[in-house]
Amino acid sequence: MSVRNLIDLNQLSLEELDDIVDMACRISRHPTHYSSACRDKLMATLFYEPSTRTQMSFQSAMLRLGGKIIGFDNPNATSVAKGESLKDTATVLSGYTDILTIRHPVEGAAMAASLYSSVPVINAGDGGHLHPTQTLTDIVTLRNVVGRTDRLVIGMCGDLANGRTVHSLCKSMSRYGGNSFVFISSEKLAMPDYIKEYVTSCGCEYSEVRTIEEAMPYLDVLYMTRIQRERFPSDEEYLKEKGIYVLDGKKMALGKPDLCVLHPLPRVDEISYEVDDDPRAHYFQQTLYGMYGRMALIIRLTSDHGHQTPEKPAPTPGFVCRNPKCITRLEHYLPPLTTDTPKGKVCAYCDHAADDFAPAESK
Ligand code: CP
Repeated sequence: MSVRNLIDLNQLSLEELDDIVDMACRISRHPTHYSSACRDKLMATLFYEPSTRTQMSFQSAMLRLGGKIIGFDNPNATSVAKGESLKDTATVLSGYTDILTIRHPVEGAAMAASLYSSVPVINAGDGGHLHPTQTLTDIVTLRNVVGRTDRLVIGMCGDLANGRTVHSLCKSMSRYGGNSFVFISSEKLAMPDYIKEYVTSCGCEYSEVRTIEEAMPYLDVLYMTRIQRERFPSDEEYLKEKGIYVLDGKKMALGKPDLCVLHPLPRVDEISYEVDDDPRAHYFQQTLYGMYGRMALIIRLTSDHGHQTPEKPAPTPGFVCRNPKCITRLEHYLPPLTTDTPKGKVCAYCDHAADDFAPAESK
């Protein structure tokens, strides 16, 4: 694989992404054929934020490949509680292992860790920013359940403002021809502009609606998400949004016979339990495809890349990211880094627009 780390799924070419999806499909058919693919390899899972599926599917993926695992899921029980920086933790743990997976509540944390890790880093979710291996899970599921990843009308419902899964999924599905999106949310939890601009720049169309009912008859895929309580400034703000969108049997009756309902899980109250028995509900199958996707990704990254001195990208002198949720606001030693995109310069950690930034010498 051309990339060493998996921070954003769009770092991969479409051919590389499809290659991993193909491999995941092969693994799902014959998992035991891969039972020693990572023998003698060790993975560290650095989970600074709660997780059930991502953490345990990574761990079971590595164990099923014949590898071993170490890690933490409670940073307060590690030297992080004594004030150890992300840089130091990533540097040290990459010396012990062959691959790191990191989940962190702050946007850009996985990218920051990759600057200091001597082994490949996988982003297992960074704040409200991205969740590339959930998207890999979603794509493997679509390939198996729907049979294709293009020419789909994809509805996304719930907390589109804070949901990193829908941000990642939108970016990846925009790359496949003929897909269009229906964003179903309240005004407050609408899809961020930078994602909508990305969709448009790929030549895809989107619309925004306020109810599930008006979108339902047109959808090939409905991607439900929970309202992300932990990303609200207060419980009062959260309670204003909670419970607005609930998929139940009555709404399912408005959907196509071959609709595919997905959810990254965990669910809170946004899908009624009665929907679980509908053959169009595929969210539990989706969790299994996630493990196969992660097995394929671990094989590719560990076989193509070993221990190396981390690359030092050229900094952008004077740049300060204005996103208060960016990792650079927390870990002050991080070099200022930007990326040029068709829409202008963005922070390389969190993708926040750097449009009002000008290099010091031109000011
Ligand atoms: N989908 C997902 O990321 O679930 P967890 O938070 O349980 O890992």
